[in-house]
Amino acid sequence: MSREPVRLLVFSASLRNGSLNTRLALLAAAAIEANGAEADVASMRDFDAPSYNADVQDSAGFPPGADRFRARLTACDGFVVCAPEYNASMPGALKNAIDWVSRYQPQPFNELHGLLMSASPSMGGGNRGLWSLRIPFEHLGARLYPDMFSLAQAHRAFDDQGQLADPQLRNRFEVNITNFLDLVEASKHYPCVKRAWVEYLGEHPEPELDRVELWSAPLGSIASCREAGRSASADPYDDALAVWSALHGLTTLRTSRPHFARLHRDELMRSVIHRLARITSSPQHAHPH
Ligand SMILES: Cc1cc2nc3c(=O)[nH]c(=O)nc-3n(C[C@H](O)[C@H](O)[C@H](O)COP(=O)(O)O)c2cc1C
Repeated sequence: MSREPVRLLVFSASLRNGSLNTRLALLAAAAIEANGAEADVASMRDFDAPSYNADVQDSAGFPPGADRFRARLTACDGFVVCAPEYNASMPGALKNAIDWVSRYQPQPFNELHGLLMSASPSMGGGNRGLWSLRIPFEHLGARLYPDMFSLAQAHRAFDDQGQLADPQLRNRFEVNITNFLDLVEASKHYPCVKRAWVEYLGEHPEPELDRVELWSAPLGSIASCREAGRSASADPYDDALAVWSALHGLTTLRTSRPHFARLHRDELMRSVIHRLARITSSPQHAHPH
């Protein structure tokens, strides 16, 4: 599939040979490439560094691992990390790498999109470690994708070709990555859409309650929004409603903010990403009056 350019740093936070998380990271990289984005695959060994010490930073500067981590992060639009769970938390090497990188100015994680994944032989799949990992990343301003993927019983989850053996799990993995890519693409190339989307995470449509209020969609705002690379109006609700209305070929839309709030995020994102370019390039829609 084709999409606007998106580049992601993909790495496993395990240092060991034969890592299950590295296998999952390689699958993620393949899924990213298959979905029209670019994956920069790195190894945690590239980013490993001595334990953070402010005296060392003051006297000797940043270690090479931290320099490399920063350089790879800043060359990307987001990152995917597959992190082992150690004692119900994140691996120390990863936390240490985050701590070093957090001392650069500008701080590289700020506003960077992130997708968290884990693999473990346990039944929990390392998911507790990912929740702990959200804390430093969110503290640093990373835009972490809400859905995370944790591969339980990972030692027996891969088939002979290195794919996830279970078809349902494979589908869940690919959908997780595709949706994340849609968001990063929207954030980079259609910022008005992203702003609206972020407000409605996890909401689902409820047709019985949705159509309650008349609202007029200024279709021209979509084109100007895209051209300007920023929100077309002061209100992200209006931008989102304009897009949604245009997708349905309407100049008016019976709806309300609660209606929009209940639209499922994936449905919205898929529609917007695949149709916005066509709609805004149409002279009829770009100049409605
Ligand atoms: C110090 C240590 C602590 C661990 N703690 C957990 C844990 O809390 N939960 C879990 O699911 N697995 C735990 N494990 C098992 C790891 O998930 C398992 O070793 C896994 O294969 C590590 O990831 P990797 O294969 O990518 O290196 C722990 C392993 C180590 C070495």
